[in-house]
Amino acid sequence: MARRMILDCDPGHDDAIAMLYALAQRDWQVDGFTIVAGNSVLNNTVRAAGQVLTVAGRSDVEVHAGMGQPLVRPLITAAHVHGESGLEGPELPEPAVPPAEGHAVDWLVSTLTAARDRGEKIEVAATGPLTNVAMAFRRDPSLTEAIDRVVVMGGAIAEGNSTPAAEFNILVDPEAATIVFEADVEVTMIGLDVTHSAIFPAARFQEFRDLATPVGRMTADLLDYFLGFHRRQYGFDGVPIHDACAVAALHDPRLVQTRHLRVDVETSSRFCDGRTVVDLWEVTGRPPNVHVAVSLDVETFFERLVAAIASYPEGG
Ligand code: RIB
Ligand code: CA
Repeated sequence: MARRMILDCDPGHDDAIAMLYALAQRDWQVDGFTIVAGNSVLNNTVRAAGQVLTVAGRSDVEVHAGMGQPLVRPLITAAHVHGESGLEGPELPEPAVPPAEGHAVDWLVSTLTAARDRGEKIEVAATGPLTNVAMAFRRDPSLTEAIDRVVVMGGAIAEGNSTPAAEFNILVDPEAATIVFEADVEVTMIGLDVTHSAIFPAARFQEFRDLATPVGRMTADLLDYFLGFHRRQYGFDGVPIHDACAVAALHDPRLVQTRHLRVDVETSSRFCDGRTVVDLWEVTGRPPNVHVAVSLDVETFFERLVAAIASYPEGG
């Protein structure tokens, strides 16, 4: 039985590369992409996902439009990072195929229900705000029986990026993150501590352009645009491809070292809303609920990332 995976995402430059990484793994069947509002509004993140698949020649994999708003808060987006469209930089074709009919949460529920009833497991990566996943778990908590594990790109032990305290994906929908972190399923958190240790050097972007393929050019153009924010904000001479770290860690757990710790999410604070409160020294006595990534095999990750992008043919 081939491994099956679902990527819930908010494309987004690093989500786009995470999509390409997932599709390039020969031992993974990507059941579908469920899309959430985050880096941009839902119409844009859905369109962006379709554009990436069109360039990759993989419009055979369905895109499902999900939640356009967080569970209880107003949506915040990240145009200062990803541009108004959510995927500024490359010139991309319009999606060859429209998103699937229906709502992503309904598709998640039906897909996971069918897998559960057949005794099958699906691996889930979530690289945007956790609204879609939380809604599915609220609809039917038993769906977690069909999930092998969930790897979330979000949060941090120590850093924040959207605020001094909070990472963007969690900040957008901390109530959804609370639902996912407290669900009866194995959750791994790939936070900024890890993704900021894996800055893909600007000097290496040319490797993608040298592939002389549509996907190689798109990847280089995405990284060039993404670099602008990271140079301005952090002085980095490269970019953290946050979401690809999470997908790579789902595909091969050996890439990260984790600690099973208590993680709670702040939802009622003047300065720290969206904070992942990681009980690093286990002082709360609260039971651990999340496998928190504390390190990443950066060299292997970069090797596999380049190989994944290089695996796409000339024509797509
Ligand atoms: O904080 C980084 C995360 O927020 C990444 O997933 C990026 O795509 C944005 O969604
Ligand atoms: Ca994302």
